[in-house]
Amino acid sequence: MNSIFNQLNDLKKEKNAIILAHIYQRPEIHDIADFIGDSLDLSKKVVATDAETIVFCGVHFMAETAHILNPNKKVLIPDINAGCPMADMITVQELKNFKSKFKDPFVIAYINTSAEIKAHSDICCTSSNAVNILRLVASSNKHLDILFIPDRNLGNYVQKVSGIKINVWNGFCPTHNNFILPEYVLKAKKEHPLAEVLVHPECRPEVIEIANYAMSTGTMCKYIKNSNNKDFIIGTEIGILYRLKKENPNKNFYPVTNLSECPNMKKTTIEKVFDVLKNTKNIVSVNDKIRKKAYLSIYKMLNVPC
Ligand code: 13P
Ligand code: SF4
Repeated sequence: MNSIFNQLNDLKKEKNAIILAHIYQRPEIHDIADFIGDSLDLSKKVVATDAETIVFCGVHFMAETAHILNPNKKVLIPDINAGCPMADMITVQELKNFKSKFKDPFVIAYINTSAEIKAHSDICCTSSNAVNILRLVASSNKHLDILFIPDRNLGNYVQKVSGIKINVWNGFCPTHNNFILPEYVLKAKKEHPLAEVLVHPECRPEVIEIANYAMSTGTMCKYIKNSNNKDFIIGTEIGILYRLKKENPNKNFYPVTNLSECPNMKKTTIEKVFDVLKNTKNIVSVNDKIRKKAYLSIYKMLNVPC
């Protein structure tokens, strides 16, 4: 019998499609993906692909970003309900109110935001380029009040690393903020004293404080590949572990907790990927007016050398 893997390959050829997946996806999605990456790498891949159809295995804002960057392509999301609770923590009206408190606000929007929020922002960032973007913005707009939305943990982290004062919105990622806790990190450190602790900047400041480094998922993968260390304690969504183990079979990985699972990232299954591609379902599309404005914020980010 033709396996679903073979059927999917035939379908991909027939539809001239590419499957992109975020690192937090299920192992079986890693196995069928043409490209796996963090938010920044995925955005760059979207710009570079010749495929006519992109199946985006991730959450809704990522598929929207793919359509904003590539409006002539079909972007399909395997589960239309795969959202990001942090992205939903700021509405356009709330952003307008936030901006109205400052004389000359300049908004840096984390890529984990809706297209509409991006359209009302000045530049985007991801967790791998946020510090560089902030430094660049601050050096070229010295007189402005810089607003950072929506993640308070990433915002506070970039403020601390750069030493640049910013105004941070009070959003957070439930997976990182509520489940990756300092007591779990301390316990893991005690159990694995030689391990390096790597955490995502969406974690609480108390967690980042006791880690060796805070970095994006993509930077974590690169860092571990090039490190001489053998043991790592990992503080981010646990989907990353599949990739880390696959790429580094001789290294050991210990999640801070197994509770750090993003339920939205896990909504994607192979069956859903197959179904949306076969039936051209769940097309993600951003209306032209919003798309053109949101594009500018993403375009500016992609042109910052990082
Ligand atoms: P990365 O850009 O590090 O992949 O982060 C995306 C994300 O959703 C983290 O929760
Ligand atoms: Fe959103 Fe957090 Fe899930 Fe990332 S891990 S998609 S920030 S809820």
